Amino acid sequence: MPPLGLTTLLNVPRSSLPRHVAMIMDGNGRWAKQRGRPRVFGHKYGAERVREIVEQAGQWGIEVLTLYAFSDENWNRPLDEVGVIMHLLEHYLRKERDELNRQNVQFRVIGDLSRLSPSLRKLIAETKELLSANSGLILNVAISYGARAEITRAMKMIASEVAAGRISKEQIDQQLVSSFLDTAGLPDPDLVIRTSGELRISNFLLWQSAYSEFYFAPVMWPDFTRDEFAKAIQHFGSRERRFGMTSAQVAQANSDSSTSVEGLRTC
Ligand code: IPE
Ligand code: IPE
Ligand code: MG
Repeated sequence: MPPLGLTTLLNVPRSSLPRHVAMIMDGNGRWAKQRGRPRVFGHKYGAERVREIVEQAGQWGIEVLTLYAFSDENWNRPLDEVGVIMHLLEHYLRKERDELNRQNVQFRVIGDLSRLSPSLRKLIAETKELLSANSGLILNVAISYGARAEITRAMKMIASEVAAGRISKEQIDQQLVSSFLDTAGLPDPDLVIRTSGELRISNFLLWQSAYSEFYFAPVMWPDFTRDEFAKAIQHFGSRERRFGMTSAQVAQANSDSSTSVEGLRTC
């Protein structure tokens, strides 16, 4: 069990905690520029922040934390910046995996891993293996990830299954589509946080965020502290999630122990 003291500090009842928080960690470059430093300096500090946020998410009892580390589109950045980010990803995993293990963290990766270097792929596989017996927070890192590419991959796989006669056209429903996405088996994100003040989704979890709450933090990622994280969670606790219904229906569903609002989600 996570320590309840930290949850109490949040001033949010456990039932109002998001199960799955997804983060668009944005603003590293601007953070560095504001300090007259090269962009890669921001990425370095950003990586430091990840450590703190992962630990905090686990302590609050959040089940899944998805971190958008590198998008499909980020491959178009200058080669040296891409190289530094890849190096930092390797460095983070190598340095943190024992500590993640100590924290009982599970590890997953989503995205097109075929574009990563063999050494990073190997490290990812080793880290998954090392943490495979854990039962705490699921740390899900989106690397070389783009939601449109993910959905396209899923469509191709489903088409192959139909062509091979293993799935009929009639069996294709929303649940089946979800099960072919990289996030298969994970709950949809309840809360998507984007730092840096940008108000866009940038090809992140397009299918899965259909009913997510969004929180846009005004700070750059390297300044996204535990306190900023707590603000986002507290905001989430004050939102009314209606899933297309009226407020009165939500109140009724919440008072009826047999039908929680969660149960009204489609996927
Ligand atoms: C987020 O920060 C990190 C990645 C996208 C890899 P940015 O590098 O996008 O920083 P800004 O948005 O340019 O400030
Ligand atoms: C989104 O940030 C991707 C990650 C945080 C990894 P970007 O900085 O790449 O997004 P845009 O280009 O501003 O939309
Ligand atoms: Mg950015």
